[in-house]
Amino acid sequence: MKKLFLAALSGETTARPPIWLMRQAGRYLPEYQAVRAEAGSFLELCRRPDLSAEVTMQPIRRFGMDAAILFADILLIPYALGQELDYREGEGPVLARIGDTRDLAQLKVGGAAARLAPVSETVRKVAAMLPPDCALIGFAGAPWTVATYMIEGGNPGDAARTKRWAFSDPEGFQRLIGILVNTTGDYLAAQIAAGAEAIQLFESHAGLLSGPEFHRWCVEPIRQIIARLKGDFPDVPVIVFPRGAGPHYEGFAKAVAADCIGIDTLIASDWAAVRLQKDCAIQGNLDPQLVVVGGKPMLETAGKLIADLAGGPHVFNLGHGVVPPTPPEHVGALVDFVKSWRRDKRG
Ligand code: CP3
Repeated sequence: MKKLFLAALSGETTARPPIWLMRQAGRYLPEYQAVRAEAGSFLELCRRPDLSAEVTMQPIRRFGMDAAILFADILLIPYALGQELDYREGEGPVLARIGDTRDLAQLKVGGAAARLAPVSETVRKVAAMLPPDCALIGFAGAPWTVATYMIEGGNPGDAARTKRWAFSDPEGFQRLIGILVNTTGDYLAAQIAAGAEAIQLFESHAGLLSGPEFHRWCVEPIRQIIARLKGDFPDVPVIVFPRGAGPHYEGFAKAVAADCIGIDTLIASDWAAVRLQKDCAIQGNLDPQLVVVGGKPMLETAGKLIADLAGGPHVFNLGHGVVPPTPPEHVGALVDFVKSWRRDKRG
């Protein structure tokens, strides 16, 4: 029988929504902290397939989600292209900035696949460890979001430098986006070949653009990556999470040919049911802070969310990632609640 998560992504209205959570592996879990300490640094953890596979499996063992997400990071692509990368406590990621079109010559486009090889090894290891009903998600950042980190040298804020480059020299900026489209396409194809059963593209900074710029720098690169993956792997579903896209959510899934769209915390689930669910499966969108709170506020909102989206395919998730202060028991209670929900028990 088809795994529940993959059934929902193929457009089925399932008896209950499958559940997984963005950032389900991470700092809120003491067992993650232990492996992270053993690795020494976050980057080293990502470069060690044995440890990355272990961390991928931790939430599955503890809570029994319907899908595991490969443990890696969207910034491994800039790293693989030769950009210096460090993750600092309390500061987030720090990259050696690239400033303009001339800097593109420094990027080691040819060497990226070799530097990303440990990620495929992690996928192979996890694929061999997963329970039979649990699916494996591979992922990457979408080109615009990854470009903002490369150009701003860390968390992009309002992405002023990136925008000035894109507005003043669109042809040069297009070359960077083109490099990211190709590298990301190869990277995701390698993850699928290694055993990833679905792909998620994180466009975490979609909310920084609008109008023609949104179309050129968010929609078009994502559409190209999906077209390339579907050419080689037509049956592997693709989820896109265009966080902050607001009104651009409408029509987005069709424009990029995604199988599922991830909605952020600002999107009303009853609006998504009417305007988005006719085009594709919907993933989301419980507020991560409700999982910090737990109890009745969390479960009542989760129940309403499921009811709102029960008329079509829905993958239960948060509207953004699990945050570090989340008590693990609250995640357990949420997973149990969603797994015991039944369409026929409603009302
Ligand atoms: O469990 C999972 O979701 C899988 C692993 C995963 C990580 N990052 C691990 C991680 C995934 C899917 C990501 C995606 C990611 N990384 C995104 C897109 C999603 C989003 O949050 O919008 C972005 C923007 C990044 C870039 C990034 N990586 C930042 C900004 C930071 C620092 C801030 C933070 O949340 O810690 C990271 C570090 C990071 N990536 C950690 C983890 C578990 C924490 C590192 C640590 O242990 O100190």
